Amino acid sequence: MSSARLTLDDKQYELPVVVGSEGEVALDISALRAQSGAITLDPGYGNTGSCMSAITFIDGEKGILRYRGYSIEEVAEKASFTEVCYLLVYGKLPTQSELLEFDRKLTYHSLLHEDMKNFFAGFPATAHPMAMLSAMVASLSAYYPDEDGSEDVPLNIVRLLSKARTIAAFSYKKSIGQPFVYPRNDLSYTENFLHMMFAVPAEPYRVSPVVNRALNLLLILHADHEQNCSTSTVRMVGSSQANLFASISAGICALWGPLHGGANQKVIEMLEAIRRDNSDYQKYVAMAKDKASGFRLMGFGHRVYKNFDPRSRILKAAADEVLAEMGKRDPLLEIAQHLERVALEDPFFVERKLYPNVDFYSGILYRAMGIPTNMFTVMFALGRLPGWIAQWKEMREDKQTRINRPRQIYTGATERAWEPIEDRERVPASV
Ligand code: CMC
Repeated sequence: MSSARLTLDDKQYELPVVVGSEGEVALDISALRAQSGAITLDPGYGNTGSCMSAITFIDGEKGILRYRGYSIEEVAEKASFTEVCYLLVYGKLPTQSELLEFDRKLTYHSLLHEDMKNFFAGFPATAHPMAMLSAMVASLSAYYPDEDGSEDVPLNIVRLLSKARTIAAFSYKKSIGQPFVYPRNDLSYTENFLHMMFAVPAEPYRVSPVVNRALNLLLILHADHEQNCSTSTVRMVGSSQANLFASISAGICALWGPLHGGANQKVIEMLEAIRRDNSDYQKYVAMAKDKASGFRLMGFGHRVYKNFDPRSRILKAAADEVLAEMGKRDPLLEIAQHLERVALEDPFFVERKLYPNVDFYSGILYRAMGIPTNMFTVMFALGRLPGWIAQWKEMREDKQTRINRPRQIYTGATERAWEPIEDRERVPASV
């Protein structure tokens, strides 16, 4: 199979066929408009490949997710998060000395410029930590500028991976009115984050190994997911040659929405609402099936996974384990399990292939680790950072990259004469 043929108004056009390394097939339409005047229309981009990428492979039908060829199950079992960062960003597993050096750099770039603390002071205590994270990440470009096109990309990648963690922890401290806790160079990447989040000057803080392991797993499972909404945003913004920090900040904003990374917060809010409502989960399943209600089961469904989300399987097992190890019982976990069982047997969900996604169980784990609900999407962003960076870097290094600029089919008024203001019909002032 080397080309496809399109017939439009009796004319035929050859469309080259592109096949990926896992056999995925695409019709290359890049010359279509020049040849025929027509464009393709695909709202929501469900059928549109926006790039060629060698980073992450997903087979949604089979529930497969691989980072640079390594299965998510194996990566989750064997890797540390910083090893996954290295794998995604640089395309290969690090040697022992490469990983040591990478970890050392992540450790030594964790401090924020002291002036940045003033930014936190300007936010109201009620500010959502995602608002602070996106603003602060964009602000890093003011400290590490690229005015003359000399952005030190390799160093800025390390700075971003390291400092985003400090920013995230500081935004939490700001929201609860506690003093910022500075990073410690004797701690690992994940331990350091937990230390900055939970330590207080008044007493010593010991990082729990169980919590540290769970954090490592959560970050790994979120590390990349090919061309989703936030990653496409990073590539879109970066295609204008905006700097790394600006591009990633845009991705953070895209992630915030409840249909994307914001879903993990919404899942817990939904489970809490069900608990307050006498744990009547059947009622919420019925509501989700009634389109008029406008209610969706948060944490269910995925654009790509139509069988199961491999990340949610790993998380479900981890949630059970972590809660048992910590000797905690979470009534929300029980509600979640009931909800999952009922929904998975219901024809509405079965027919639409709606399964629990990564956000369904991640919130339960975050709660067990003591992470507050409004920080859940920030945690997702910290995990997704290496993926965004890898995708941004791949896009910038690809000689074929052009500024992203989709077309549209215009449906507005055709040309008409200007109406003098005195001749216009009166409309209500509020319009
Ligand atoms: N609850 C009830 N019905 C649903 C749900 C849900 N969670 N998700 C989809 N549907 C229905 C939807 O109404 C539609 O029904 P019909 O065909 O009768 O019109 C059908 O299933 C297909 O839905 P869609 O909205 O066309 O699917 P999509 O691929 O555009 O959207 C989604 C995917 C994830 C946005 C959607 O499933 C959803 O809103 N889920 C809840 C939010 C959520 O959990 N988001 C996190 C996604 S995973 C983490 C990430 O990558 O960000």
